[in-house]
Formats: sequence, structure tokens, C-alpha cells
Amino acid sequence: MSTSLTEFCRAEIAALKDAKTWKKERVLEGPTGARVRVDGRDVLMLTSNNYLGFANHPRIVEAAKKALDRWGNGLGSVRFICGTQALHKELEATISKFFGTEDTILYMSCWNANEGLFAPLLGEEDGLLTDALNHASIIDGTRLCKAKRFVTPHGDLSALEKALQEAATLRRRLFITDGVFSMEGEIGPLGGFADLCEKYDTAFVVDDSHATGVLGKTGRGSAEEMGVMKRVTLFTSTLGKAMGSAAGGFTTGPAPVVDLLRQRSRTSLFSNALPPAVAAASLEAFRMLMEDPSPAHRVQKNALTFRTRMKAAGFKIPDGIHPIVPVIVGDTAKALAMSDALFQKGVYVSGFGFPVVPQGHARLRCQISAIHTEADLDEAVDAFVKVGKEFGAIA
Ligand SMILES: Cc1ncc(COP(=O)(O)O)c(C=O)c1O
Repeated sequence: MSTSLTEFCRAEIAALKDAKTWKKERVLEGPTGARVRVDGRDVLMLTSNNYLGFANHPRIVEAAKKALDRWGNGLGSVRFICGTQALHKELEATISKFFGTEDTILYMSCWNANEGLFAPLLGEEDGLLTDALNHASIIDGTRLCKAKRFVTPHGDLSALEKALQEAATLRRRLFITDGVFSMEGEIGPLGGFADLCEKYDTAFVVDDSHATGVLGKTGRGSAEEMGVMKRVTLFTSTLGKAMGSAAGGFTTGPAPVVDLLRQRSRTSLFSNALPPAVAAASLEAFRMLMEDPSPAHRVQKNALTFRTRMKAAGFKIPDGIHPIVPVIVGDTAKALAMSDALFQKGVYVSGFGFPVVPQGHARLRCQISAIHTEADLDEAVDAFVKVGKEFGAIA
């Protein structure tokens, strides 16, 4: 038996531990919520994508339970063989209604939606333009596509225009951006992107995983927030964050595009259908938000409150409105040590360092939820102030 692979892994693990960048897995002893039970005690959850607090909402849990009884545990199949139930069609129709689009295709995750998006739509004669800070699933998706790739510096409209000019002679063009960049909590310049895509006859795609259900007056996301809802050709997004928090993703847009994806997108064609309980829970999440957008308003308000209090306490926080609130501390080892110290004080927040973020920009990524109370936010800020002083992050 060859031992070279395990030896390689052992050495890599040792290097990660030496650099103090080894990521610990904490084990939750119950469901997620504003507070979670870990190591036998309750801590404030400040690092989850459960933006609306739907993950363990009674209506969502009930919808999943009922779906198990009505539709069973799974289909044992991909969608196009025998894996499509009326439930999947209803969720797709509801997502289309929510976005005001013609059609939607579900995937097991937004990772799969992104990975399966480009190759069916673009070939060698086409141009695929992508923002440099886009999510890893977009980067991997672009690698599976033969189109000429243009990676444009993050949020740089003049660089994008240059790339679009260079791509102008190609047969078709598609530009994709994250709606909200997950390490920064920053909304992309969607108005400028839309202008350029229209000027250069380019499909404009927004991955709105961190904004669906979260931003905008009715929770439609970053495009609603920026007033460009009707100017986006396609949205990809996740059901694993605000909209149920379990799993699933989708691409939504013009009917012919979605229909072709159903025929050719490999991550749909060769991967099982979304489990019924997961689909039903996300369907309920969309219904709840369409009935009453107040959870989106609450998370937006909580994000502003937390941002304002943390800035007043002296922390370095990039400007913004999103419930992802990065607290920049510089060094990776310091970010991870501060995360441990906060955990000891009852606040669960993740530290991120190089290579996930640029060298010297390590951070604690706070994520605020609609179900955090004022008292929760105060408790988090108090713990940050104590730990921040201990580590010299604030005076
Ligand atoms: C921008 C973005 N796109 C895609 C994904 C992947 O989503 P999923 O968990 O549904 O695969 C994420 C998840 O972190 C994300 O932040």
C-alpha cells in the first residue's frame, strides 16, 4: 500500500497548524438560532447565514415534516429521469414569481447552479467575464467552460469596460458578479455593471446567495436594493442561507435559457433531485417572505445597529449596510485567536485569514440575523470591546 498520499496530507496539516490557520470544526448540540448549544453551553450565534431566522422557524420545520409524509424522503433519481415531483415545479414557479422571471431550475446547491451554468451557454467563440472576487463556485464553473475568460479587477467599471471592448468581436458575452461579496459584506456596483452589459450586449448574471431574502424593500436582494431588478439577465442563488438554510440552489431568468440548462447543465443532469423536505421548507420560506417582508426589514435594521455600535467602539469596519459585518484585525493568527477568545466569552464568530482574504486583511466575520434582539447585539458588542482591547484591536 502506498503511503505517499497520507504522508503528503500529514505534512500539509502540520504546515496549516504551524501557520495557525487550521480551521476548527465546532459541534452544535442542537438546531441553529440566535443562540446555539456548543460544548454544553449556550453561546450567541454571530456567524451564520440564517439571516431571516428561518432555519428553525416552526412553519419551516412543520413544512419539512409534512413533506416527508406527503412526498417521502427522496426520489432516488435525477430530475429528468424520475426525480421531478409537483413540489419541485411549485418551488420553481414560486421562485420565478418572487424574482419576476420567466422560469427557474433547481439544483442541490448554488455551488452546483454556478458550476453548471457556463458550459451549456458559452463555447470557444464566446466571452466569459467575471469579477476577481467572485465566489469559488463561479471560479470553478468558469474553469469548466471553453469560453475566453476575462477576470476583471474587483468592482472596477473601467477595467470591465476595457474587457468588454476586447470581447466585443466574440460571438456572445456573459458577465457574472456576486451581488454581495461574502468576505466584505459589500454590494457590487450593479447599476454600473448593468449599464456596461447593456452597452456591450452582454448577459448580466448576479449570484445573489447572500442577498436573496435579505436586501431590498421586499427582500428580493441586491438588485432590488440597487434598483436594477429588471436589468439582470439571470440570477443564481442559494436556498441554504436566508431561504430555509438547509440546501439547494437555483438559476432563474428567461425561459429558453432555463430550458436549455434543463437539457444540458451537467450538475442538474447527473445529480439527484432536491429532497422533498428541503424543497418544501424553502417553498414555505418564500411564501412567508412574500406574505410579510418584515424579517428582511428586521435583519437590515439589526445590521445597521450593530455596524453603528461597533464603529463607535473603534473597530475597523468597511462601510456598508449588509448583515455581513467584517471586523478587520490584520493578522490571520490574531483573527483566529480573537475568535477563540470571543467564544470563551459566549460569542460564536468565525475568523478568516489568508488565503481566503488578502494577506494583512484577516478579519472576524460577524453575521447578523433578524432574530437577534437588541440585548443580543449589546452582548456581542460588549464581548468585542473586551476582546478587542485585550488583543490591541481597539484602544
Ligand atoms: C456568493 C456565493 N455563491 C454560492 C455559494 C454556494 O452556495 P451553496 O451553499 O448553496 O452551495 C455561496 C456560499 O457560501 C456564496 O457565498
